[in-house]
Amino acid sequence: MTAYVNGKFMPIAEARISPLDRGFLFADGAYEVIPVYGRYGFRQEEHMRRFQVSLDGIRLPNPHTPDEWRALIKQIIANAPFEDQQLYIQVTRGADVKRDAAFPVNVPQTVFMFTAPMAKPSAEMRANGVACITAPDIRWGRCDLKTVALLANSQARQLSVDAGCTETVMIRDGYLTEGSASNVFIVKNGVVLAPPKNNRILPGITYDVVFELAAKHGVPNEARPISEAEVFDADEIWITSSTKEILPVTKLNGKPVGHGDAAGKVGPVAQKLHKAYVDFRDALVAASKNA
Ligand code: PDD
Repeated sequence: MTAYVNGKFMPIAEARISPLDRGFLFADGAYEVIPVYGRYGFRQEEHMRRFQVSLDGIRLPNPHTPDEWRALIKQIIANAPFEDQQLYIQVTRGADVKRDAAFPVNVPQTVFMFTAPMAKPSAEMRANGVACITAPDIRWGRCDLKTVALLANSQARQLSVDAGCTETVMIRDGYLTEGSASNVFIVKNGVVLAPPKNNRILPGITYDVVFELAAKHGVPNEARPISEAEVFDADEIWITSSTKEILPVTKLNGKPVGHGDAAGKVGPVAQKLHKAYVDFRDALVAASKNA
């Protein structure tokens, strides 16, 4: 019973929607991915607040109240036979026979959730970092909304698959935006830097945690535009997401990241903040068990 469609829990193999669903025909929907550790939804409330912003951004009514969502999420997490999960939630504008681009009237939204074992980076990836490539960011003007219109993200991601790499770091008009499914940070002279939140990037939940933890642990940090040249000259590069957490990038476009002896190795700031991240996360999971 790891899936849910429109009011019913079921095995994912039994989940069905109409081919007329506007998510399928028009990518007319929004989604979230919530990381679940020991059956505890990490930053679940923040994810659900961002979900509301995405729904509002495409004028899609939210079919459930926050309390209804909490109950549904609790149930699907409890149903799953695994402790650490990635919970996927999607709402679309429903199925309408007219296939008209204009919003249908009196058509119920489609609600879909499924949970799967969390796909974590391997120990080898954590220890040595990963290789990435850069590519132009060809996406639309509302990358701040988490919509299912992921064609350009998919095209970008496949470029890195073709190159044997973990992620594609996107550049728009000479400036860093984000990864195909991650935010991107750099470290320069001990300062943690990431592009500011605007319409060009998804406001990552992990991005917020990284800035909070940097501030808490006295690591200088700033959100500001980062030029492509700064990316290539960085001391460290990281990708962050709900499933990758803080993952160091040690090779970019085939060249080692960083300078001198540190080049191509996982950097000290990544190590420090990832440890802070794991400690913070584990403390919340432990507190949820005692609650
Ligand atoms: N992706 N930017 C993009 C384009 C993303 O798709 C994601 C997450 C992020 C990081 O956001 P967060 O820290 O809130 O996970 C940034 C999810 C994991 C996905 O689509 O699978």
